[in-house]
Amino acid sequence: MSITVNYNNMMQYALGERGISDAELKEQEILAQSAHFQVEAARGRGMQGWMESPYDQAEVVKQIKATAARIRKRYEAFVVLGIGGSALGPQAVFTALKHSYYNELPKKLRKGPRFYVVDNVDPERMNALFDVVNVEKTMFNVITKSGATGETMSQYLIIYDMLKAKLGNKAHEHIIATTSESTGNLIKLAKQEGFETFFIPSSVGGRFSELCPVGLLPAAVVGIDVSKLLKGARDMDRKCKSKYIAKNPALALATLQYISMKHGKNISVMMPYSDSLKYISDWYAQLWAESLGKEVDKNGNVVNVGQTPVKALGVTDQHSQVQLYNEGPFDKVITFVEVGNFRSDVTIPQGCEEYPNVNFLCGHTLGELMNSELYATRYNLTRRGRANYTIRLDCVDAYHIGALLYLLQMQTAYAGAMLNVDAYNQPGVEGGKDATYALFGRKGYEDKLEEMRSAKPDSDKYII
Ligand code: PA5
Repeated sequence: MSITVNYNNMMQYALGERGISDAELKEQEILAQSAHFQVEAARGRGMQGWMESPYDQAEVVKQIKATAARIRKRYEAFVVLGIGGSALGPQAVFTALKHSYYNELPKKLRKGPRFYVVDNVDPERMNALFDVVNVEKTMFNVITKSGATGETMSQYLIIYDMLKAKLGNKAHEHIIATTSESTGNLIKLAKQEGFETFFIPSSVGGRFSELCPVGLLPAAVVGIDVSKLLKGARDMDRKCKSKYIAKNPALALATLQYISMKHGKNISVMMPYSDSLKYISDWYAQLWAESLGKEVDKNGNVVNVGQTPVKALGVTDQHSQVQLYNEGPFDKVITFVEVGNFRSDVTIPQGCEEYPNVNFLCGHTLGELMNSELYATRYNLTRRGRANYTIRLDCVDAYHIGALLYLLQMQTAYAGAMLNVDAYNQPGVEGGKDATYALFGRKGYEDKLEEMRSAKPDSDKYII
């Protein structure tokens, strides 16, 4: 396992008085051990089935590989229909592990179907999809654990209607449903229509589901070695066995973030220095925000906790957000994700000899430039007392991505336990969903509609 977590730049050792002291970290040792105990005690139970995902899927992985092999042979495109935890993981892992221009590659090099994730209900994007895929040669993977999410079910209705119009009684062969085995509408529809199905265990919530069929089937379809993803997660799980902060990377990171929140650092920036990891930040943003952003704690006390995740990308965002990180409020913790060895590199050729302030670049590689800019940015932020730590992956491959996802899931679980919040619910999302249902005239939401109609209308005074 070559993932390291370097948190020097969170500590007084590097940051001076703005950092966390050794004593302060030690003070949290009991809380951290209790968080570790709670998380371990619930392993595989309640909503912590995701901790078993690296271990208990031998059978399902076999099925996934067989289905993926069939799809790779027969279909030109594979489209994920889903939202939130049912879409962010597949997108993140695909982007991390496949060619940057995968869909544009000739079929001979791609070796599998083109890949799309439709995670919104934007009508323009939906119509645009039909310009680039031939539904008759496309497999659609409808992913929704609840089997009831309005956005995903709208997408399903549109696609299935189109498939039926074009393919008649063969339409069902173009849909795979990934959903709960026992609850929701999608499983009923799957049985009724004869869709192939994969199941999301009831003990695995959306944002913790990438390492179950939600993520594994799409990954296998594009040729990612899903056994290596799971092996990486397993090895990271072993690294997180210790109850001591100094020996458990996820526990260390959760504790540092917990202390930082207490210091008023309510923004968590994730800034990978690799385009391939760009969507890992999107996935992490949901994981961190939805799991920890809570009004009440487990005892019903109003706590209004959570850190706002910010997605950034090195080096691109050095030219946009880093000014703020260096000189704005001291309210952020920056997580750098560093890649030791890029899968390929490009040497900057000789040239511009008469322009020394361009010529200094020549002979170096882009990989060197990327990582030198990371060191420089990190150095400068640290010098200015800005809290940051680095997760370093030796390289980006299925094994390290599995390990990284699992590390971040463990960090989130520990942080939830430290904050004493339920990291697995999302009551704050329900209000907006209910209001949408009311506006769409869904049965049972008449009172909500009434309530909305009697709300204060916008005042013209504030509309220009
Ligand atoms: O993390 C979660 O549970 C949510 O973000 C869900 O993933 C999201 O709401 C989609 O839910 P579902 O898979 O039921 O369609």
